[in-house]
Amino acid sequence: MASELELAAARRLLAAAGSLVVLTGAGISAESGIPTFRGPGGLWRNFRPEALATPEAFARDPLTVWEWYLWRRGLIDAAEPNAGHRALVTLEQRYERFTLITQNVDGLHDRAGSRRILKVHGDLWHTRCTGCAYQRKDRALAYPALPPPCPECGAPLRPGVVWFGESLPRIVWAEAERAVAQADLLLVVGTSAQVYPAAGLIDLARCAIEVNPAATPFSSRVAVALAGGAGEILPALV
Ligand code: APR
Repeated sequence: MASELELAAARRLLAAAGSLVVLTGAGISAESGIPTFRGPGGLWRNFRPEALATPEAFARDPLTVWEWYLWRRGLIDAAEPNAGHRALVTLEQRYERFTLITQNVDGLHDRAGSRRILKVHGDLWHTRCTGCAYQRKDRALAYPALPPPCPECGAPLRPGVVWFGESLPRIVWAEAERAVAQADLLLVVGTSAQVYPAAGLIDLARCAIEVNPAATPFSSRVAVALAGGAGEILPALV
């Protein structure tokens, strides 16, 4: 658990920062009961990403891919944002220049009240067409038929998330890079920092604080590494 000295150092950096960018990963939703991808209980311990989170997997077996994402929608629908999500809403209100960049597709930052969010891996609560530009916000936890057909062109609809091997949304990504490069401080919360290009944002930061119960490849390179869960560390910082 982070020491009082480390928390005080992080508070000083936050107080001195004129602009703040936050980068979150699956770890910030762990205390809401949503499984992370890696580490103990991680989704990739029980499921194979290449079988569920790639365009090839969807082309080969859209039914299984949809069933897996609908299962995740069900988990998230039953969950609530936690104190970590809420602490970031408080931080957003405190900084004129604030950006929240998230790798998460669960929508828990939105439900907590965050507004200035850049979703670099898309949104599980968006559904889009594989054949045309059709897309919609979508709270469905089930469909009459899988894969659901596009109402415009009839092609299969897919979850509005970024799969392995796909490029990140161009404009969102450019905004994320610019935000980190221009910010006084980057607060990295709950990411194993193993998936690029998102993990590369940390390299762009002038100064960074990390919140994670475990060490990551960046822990030795940030100004302050706070060991602990987001749900307890972030409220202590704010
Ligand atoms: N608070 C903060 N961090 C936590 C907590 C917690 N309560 N519990 C676990 N963590 C940390 C873990 O130590 C780990 O470093 O959260 C991190 C989760 O790492 P991953 O499961 O790899 O999730 P993430 O880094 O978001 O993965 C990045 O990979 O599978 C793709 O697209 C997917 O967006 C995802 C990307």
